[in-house]
Amino acid sequence: MIQKPTPPDWSDAPVVENYTDFSREAFWGAYHWQAAVGLYRSGLHKTKGDVLDIGCGPGWLTFILKDMSPEAFCCGLDLSEEMVEAAQTIAQQKQYTDLRFVQGDAGQLPFPDNSFDLVTSCFSFRLWDDQIRGLQEAYRVVRPGGLVYIADISGDVPLEQREQILDAAPQSGRTFLKLAMEMGIPEAEVRELATKTGIPVWECRIGGMGGYLPTQREVLDWVGEGFPLRHLYSLVQGKDWARELGKYWFHLYLEKP
Ligand SMILES: C[S@@+](CC[C@H](N)C(=O)[O-])C[C@H]1O[C@@H](n2cnc3c(N)ncnc32)[C@H](O)[C@@H]1O
Repeated sequence: MIQKPTPPDWSDAPVVENYTDFSREAFWGAYHWQAAVGLYRSGLHKTKGDVLDIGCGPGWLTFILKDMSPEAFCCGLDLSEEMVEAAQTIAQQKQYTDLRFVQGDAGQLPFPDNSFDLVTSCFSFRLWDDQIRGLQEAYRVVRPGGLVYIADISGDVPLEQREQILDAAPQSGRTFLKLAMEMGIPEAEVRELATKTGIPVWECRIGGMGGYLPTQREVLDWVGEGFPLRHLYSLVQGKDWARELGKYWFHLYLEKP
């Protein structure tokens, strides 16, 4: 029987500290892409609204969402109290306001129905105890007309490529990345999970940049509305290992009519 890998202990202070540094360095571009795609696809680039980031860790994606949408109220939620504290510390240092971090579980979100316009999550889905429940919870708390956008590494990174990615990645992040690839949920299974939620409107895209090609109609329309395509590309320059890994990210979008 194949043994399931044990995830990092996200409550352990050295793990929190290492991950905070590594993730900022490694995924800065990816967070910007996720934030931009989430805001533009949900229409929040035009209106002010409420945003939730599930499994926020040290909060980099939450902060970027806030930076890109200064009028929005942004909330990060994480199971680990220590991660929440790390995010709160950064928020205080940077003097962010209208931003909150709370401890909580993706499977039992501490919010009433229809509380947010955009619910997003990065690099956390594979860790949830019950993904179907987590998706249903995310859907429950998003308002009608809103969007749930979940991104994570899939389990489809070919074995021979995993070693190459790890060799090229920063030393400090290799354990996180190795475990993430081992624990990643294959795309076919993500689709099966989404189907089992009973949520009627969903879409699963694969690849970097939210699963979009820069020449796609939607992206061109967003560019017309101010989507910072060039800037986003500049942020992922020179990180070949991250771009390679990006080919195997899944992007699951749930729309609430
Ligand atoms: C790899 S980190 C990702 C953090 C951040 N989203 C990022 O992209 O940098 C995974 C995070 O998911 C959190 N997590 C795991 N299971 C969770 C759950 N059931 N509910 C909420 N957060 C969870 C962990 O505590 C950890 O902070």
